[in-house]
Amino acid sequence: MRTLSEALVEATAVLIDAAVPSPGNDARLIAGHLLDVDKLQLFLRGDGPVPAGFDEMVARRATREPLQYILGVAPFGPLDLKVGPGVFIPRPETEVLADWSVKSLNGISAPRVVDLCTGSGALAAYLAHERTDAEIAAVEKSPEAAAFARLNLPAQVQLILGDATSPELLAEWNDSCDLVVSNPPYVPETPDLDPEVYQDPHEAVFAGADGMSVINEMVDQIHRLLRRGGVTGIEHDDATSELVQQVLRSHGGFAEVAPLSDLTGRARFVTASKV
Ligand SMILES: C[S@@+](CC[C@H](N)C(=O)[O-])C[C@H]1O[C@@H](n2cnc3c(N)ncnc32)[C@H](O)[C@@H]1O
Repeated sequence: MRTLSEALVEATAVLIDAAVPSPGNDARLIAGHLLDVDKLQLFLRGDGPVPAGFDEMVARRATREPLQYILGVAPFGPLDLKVGPGVFIPRPETEVLADWSVKSLNGISAPRVVDLCTGSGALAAYLAHERTDAEIAAVEKSPEAAAFARLNLPAQVQLILGDATSPELLAEWNDSCDLVVSNPPYVPETPDLDPEVYQDPHEAVFAGADGMSVINEMVDQIHRLLRRGGVTGIEHDDATSELVQQVLRSHGGFAEVAPLSDLTGRARFVTASKV
């Protein structure tokens, strides 16, 4: 019988050949997922049998299909979000924006919050988890992505299948929101990123030649939805901090426009408040 330890060594070699960035870790995560055990328990099962489906999942990963699509789940802060083809995989750096968002609501009871371009529902689900008293709307244009958001969002969150750039969006919430947060599509159209990135839906990732097409159009809606003193936090590309700050400043309706860095010190978010 082939043991789990032997299968993990073979799988790691297959994933190294496919230039997967963390081959051993991915092989162990696949096995752990199938056996529903953590890393330590997996180690203790090294002499045991190989779980059914292991080789098939490793073969999929060797095609550079994202691990999260294969496992059907992506961690986001304290949450495990359901994901699959058709929805953007939440990234760890967005947790910085989620944490900032939670802190921005300190001292506000029953806050009203909008998550524009919610994808899997990551930011809205995180906020709902941290603030059970919040009234939250999550907006997503893609029906495929919204279907995943529906699975991930608690009843506390109103999911809207709609366009974050539309002047009619959530008109009944005009001038009333404490926070509008967004991780929109923002990557400049480019052909040389990791293969995994091209497996996210194209319209979830890319936003014109400069990565600004959605952000440019969203700014009026963010301003319209916020109350005076309400705040916004927007995730953006490595290269567009200045551009995003400029769009908010030149709008004229925002103050305290400031960059926010991710955990590696790169400016990846801009925050501002409504005057
Ligand atoms: C980069 S993904 C981020 C998803 C999620 N916010 C997250 O952090 O994981 C951007 C999402 O915006 C959606 N989207 C793109 N244009 C949109 C628009 N005009 N209105 C609403 N959603 C939009 C895409 O379908 C995608 O799900």
